[in-house]
Amino acid sequence: MSKKTTRRTFLKRTFGFILTMFGLSSGGYLYANKIEPSLLDIEEIKMTHPLIPKSFDGVKIVQFSDTHLGFQYTLEQLNSLVNKISMLEPDLICFTGDLMDEPNKFTDINKLVPILKKLHAPMGKFCIFGNHDHGGYGSDLYRNIMEAAEFTVLLNQAAPIKQKDGSRIYVLGIDDAMLGKPDLPQALKDVPNHHFNLLLSHAPDLADQALRYPVHWQISGHSHGGQVKIPFYGALITPPFGQKYPEGLYRVGNENELTLYVNRGIGTTRLPFRFLAKPELTVYTMKSKEA
Ligand SMILES: [Fe+2]
Repeated sequence: MSKKTTRRTFLKRTFGFILTMFGLSSGGYLYANKIEPSLLDIEEIKMTHPLIPKSFDGVKIVQFSDTHLGFQYTLEQLNSLVNKISMLEPDLICFTGDLMDEPNKFTDINKLVPILKKLHAPMGKFCIFGNHDHGGYGSDLYRNIMEAAEFTVLLNQAAPIKQKDGSRIYVLGIDDAMLGKPDLPQALKDVPNHHFNLLLSHAPDLADQALRYPVHWQISGHSHGGQVKIPFYGALITPPFGQKYPEGLYRVGNENELTLYVNRGIGTTRLPFRFLAKPELTVYTMKSKEA
C-alpha cells in the first residue's frame, strides 16, 4: 500500500470517526447502542444454480453468524434467536463463525450448549471457525461446544447432503483466513465432480480464491456489514478479509462463476454499536433453475 493511500485511508477513517461520534453524541447513541443491536432483519435469498438437483427445490437453509457472545450479546438473546430460527423450520442450519467474542473469558459454557442444541434441522447443522473462535486458545473450546450442540464442524472438510433418491449436494467448510489455515483443495479432496458445492467461509474476501475451484455459492459473515456505517460514506471500519465484499449479494468472476452472500451477523465487537447495519438472519431457498 502506498503512503498516499495509507494517509487517505487514515484521513477518511478520522473524518468518519468524528462524524460518528458527533452523531452518537445525541439520541443516536441510544439508538446505536441499545436499539439497532436488538433488531433483526430476516433476509430471504433464492439460491439458484443449474447443478442443484430438482429434489432440492424448496430446501431451506438458515444462516446465522457472528454472535460474539460475552461482548454485548447475551445468552438470553441467543435463546430468543434460536426460537426465531426454529420458527423458520430450516432443513439445514449453518453457523459461519465468531460464536464468543473472547472464548477464554466466557464463563457460561454449560448454559450455552443446551441453547444451541435446541436447534433442529433434518439435513444437518454445520459450522466453521471464525477468527474469534481461534482467539485466546479458543479453538478446542469452540469445537467442543459446537460438537456437544450437535453441529458438524467443517475444518477444511466437506459433507454430502443426500436426498432419498440418491441425489446430493456438498457443503464445504474452510478455516478462518485471519487466524486459521484455510485449505480449499483439502476440503474438495473427496468431492466428486459435477455436484453443487456450497462453501462456508467466515471471511468473505476468500471468494476471489474460491473462484478458482468448483465452488458455486459461498456464504460468509465476519464483516458485520461494517457494523457502524456513515450515511453517504459507508462502513467506518471493515476487518481484513472482509473489505472487498462487506455485505449482501455478489456475483464474483468475469463470468459470474460464483455467487457470494455476506450476512451482517448478529452481535458486535470492539464497539458496542450498530448503525445502519442491522443484525441479520439469512434464509436461503434452493432452486435448481432460475424461475
Ligand atoms: Fe465477527
